[in-house]
Amino acid sequence: MNHTEIKLMSIAGARPNFMKLASIAHAVHTHNASASGQTVSIKHVIVHTGQHYDEKMSHQFFDDLGIPKPDINLEVGSGTHACQTAEIMKRFEPVLLQESPDALLVVGDVNSTIACTLVAAKIDYGLSGRRRPVIIHVEAGLRSFDHGMPEEVNRILTDRISDMLFITEESGLINLQNEGVAPGKIHFSGNVMIDTLCRHLVKAKNSNIKNRLGITGSYGLVTLHRPSNVDSPDALRSLLECLAGISQRLRLIFPVHPRTRGKIQEFGLLPLLDVAPGLQLAEPLGYLDFLHLTSNATLVLTDSGGIQEETTYLNVPCITLRENTERPVTVTVGSNYLIGVEPGRIIETVEKILSGQGKQSRIPELWDGKAGERIVRDILVHGFGLA
Ligand code: UD1
Repeated sequence: MNHTEIKLMSIAGARPNFMKLASIAHAVHTHNASASGQTVSIKHVIVHTGQHYDEKMSHQFFDDLGIPKPDINLEVGSGTHACQTAEIMKRFEPVLLQESPDALLVVGDVNSTIACTLVAAKIDYGLSGRRRPVIIHVEAGLRSFDHGMPEEVNRILTDRISDMLFITEESGLINLQNEGVAPGKIHFSGNVMIDTLCRHLVKAKNSNIKNRLGITGSYGLVTLHRPSNVDSPDALRSLLECLAGISQRLRLIFPVHPRTRGKIQEFGLLPLLDVAPGLQLAEPLGYLDFLHLTSNATLVLTDSGGIQEETTYLNVPCITLRENTERPVTVTVGSNYLIGVEPGRIIETVEKILSGQGKQSRIPELWDGKAGERIVRDILVHGFGLA
């Protein structure tokens, strides 16, 4: 019996990547342990770019999610978009040449995603028969149509130069078709982030985060980190004042992203929070603690992308503090309210939910915990012609 080994390199850089990588790592492990893994095995090499580096933004997720330790860490750290992207590219190129994987898998839309994809698209291994890796983009096709968002630029460019595009929802298929992507490149896999959620829900139930934060009774959960919401003093002040108002009605728990914490300090907005005892700030939380809080929240107020999907799966009302979403299925099928940042509308939506008139979500197609398995199978079959 002939044995074939495919070398797959996966990239993770920032917090929202780790949940997606966890699903892929688990699916690879499951494949290798199965009967078909006897004939075609996958050697999985994990590269962490170091875009996120704080214990609470990075390492804790590897522990919580049981992801194997990265084989390589590029340790790039923070910087402007250009500096961060360029630094990742500079440090990644020699690693890619050295390892020469058969396939490179990137997830999501962060700077690490586009930086590594761009390197891989132009690399030349100098090997006979294989110049570069097959490039695989997981969570492809999402579009906010807002080119002012750095992530939108990253998404469009990454999709353009990837070979296999795995989509999470039907809008991804429509967007890619409209952009002229060959149908054979597009694969509807479902949602790897939901795989990880399904696998950790029971463990998350046992988290004692509510005790640690002194939470009793009902509460809302808040996250904010988008540049459009936190990088201008006026926008951030308006949102914090609105949250302070809501917190008189419903206690709010707000684990603060380092970027947002920095801006609150820089703009001198701390006094606003001192007079709002119902608005409780916390450090960024690990995956299991955050999932515990999301599952039990009365509602969530957020500008995150992934949280719109997690709340949809969990049927928890989500108020998205943005003008657009690249994940429209969370609005059409899920429990997401896309309402922007106007305080009157935010308060009105909170009141609607608190009065029991919130919408019920259904679970989108193929968000069934098996996306990672489908992706691994499709990579072998369609990427390498292997069964
Ligand atoms: C990045 C992603 C965004 C994702 C978010 C999740 C891009 C363009 N943006 O935004 O899509 O939703 O991650 O968090 O890739 N910082 C720390 N410690 C860390 C990481 C960051 O203190 O471990 C601080 C630094 O001051 C840094 C700032 O946060 O300058 C922003 O970090 P950066 O990686 O540039 O972008 P995010 O806002 O985290």
